[in-house]
Amino acid sequence: MTPLLQVDNLSVAFPTQTGEVAAVRDVSFNIPASGALGLVGESGSGKSATALAILRLLPPQARVRGAVRFSSEDLLSLPEDFMRRVRGARISMIFQEPMTALNPVMRVGKQVEEAVLAHERVSKSEARQRTMDALRDVAIPDPEQRARDYPHQLSGGQRQRVMIAMALVNRPQLLIADEPTTALDVTIQAQILELLQSLREKYKLAMLFISHDLGVISRVADQVAVMYAGEIVEMGPVARIFSDAQHAYTRGLISAIPTLKTDRSQPLRTVERQIPLAGAATLREVSPGHWVRAGQ
Ligand SMILES: Nc1ncnc2c1ncn2[C@@H]1O[C@H](COP(=O)(O)OP(=O)(O)OP(=O)(O)O)[C@@H](O)[C@H]1O
Ligand SMILES: [Mg+2]
Repeated sequence: MTPLLQVDNLSVAFPTQTGEVAAVRDVSFNIPASGALGLVGESGSGKSATALAILRLLPPQARVRGAVRFSSEDLLSLPEDFMRRVRGARISMIFQEPMTALNPVMRVGKQVEEAVLAHERVSKSEARQRTMDALRDVAIPDPEQRARDYPHQLSGGQRQRVMIAMALVNRPQLLIADEPTTALDVTIQAQILELLQSLREKYKLAMLFISHDLGVISRVADQVAVMYAGEIVEMGPVARIFSDAQHAYTRGLISAIPTLKTDRSQPLRTVERQIPLAGAATLREVSPGHWVRAGQ
């Protein structure tokens, strides 16, 4: 079966005064339809650059190499106007800080409506109906009322729910979530993770979930790719990574999980294995679907 998203030897470099910064180096992974891959790694390891390269949202000076196939379309060579139809419709992205992604001077309901109208020719009342359904989906209480609020009138958790509603209103096949809960306090963070998990199941949504916290990843993803200095150093099913981490850096991430006790009480989901990666010459398979950087 062809994966929904197939990233092959993706590299991103940024030119600087002192030469090029290799932000992402030969990264390869697959996400099957309705599968969820967690991308974990410390600050600066290249997680966001990977996500932005997939959606072609990097600044123009960035040098991108490799291939990104989505439903067998080659995203890196798609004309920009086609790419615009992919973004926000078939692939959506949510970010860490919803305040910067939302328009501060537009009512939130209107913003979700505009996301609908940007991609589909539907009537205003249809767009409004879909907006209400989407706000209900993300469990915003009293959505008719909240839709009339401006972003600053909502709590951080509610703003993130609006962002999720906006991302999912066009029923994408893939959601890219870049540290969507990092700015929230622990209780709200848990609620948002639970919400994403239930929406994933409801809409058979595939997800690329980025976090520096492996504990957070284990709640929503079934596969994990560990990034270090621009490279994937280990990748495999979440349960395998927890039970049999091979790379020293992965072990470090596991021991750094503050909430490990509560996480372990939840059953780890079993899933499809990563199919062998054609381009991942630097990774070797230590058990089915569990890859580690060669030399480890
Ligand atoms: N626009 C840019 N111009 C130059 N360098 C950049 C740019 N964007 C990212 N970088 C560099 O690329 C590397 C990877 O950055 P990236 O934002 O992908 O890291 P990250 O893993 O998402 O980190 P964080 O957890 O802090 O979000 C870093 O060294 C960063 O400084
Ligand atoms: Mg980032």
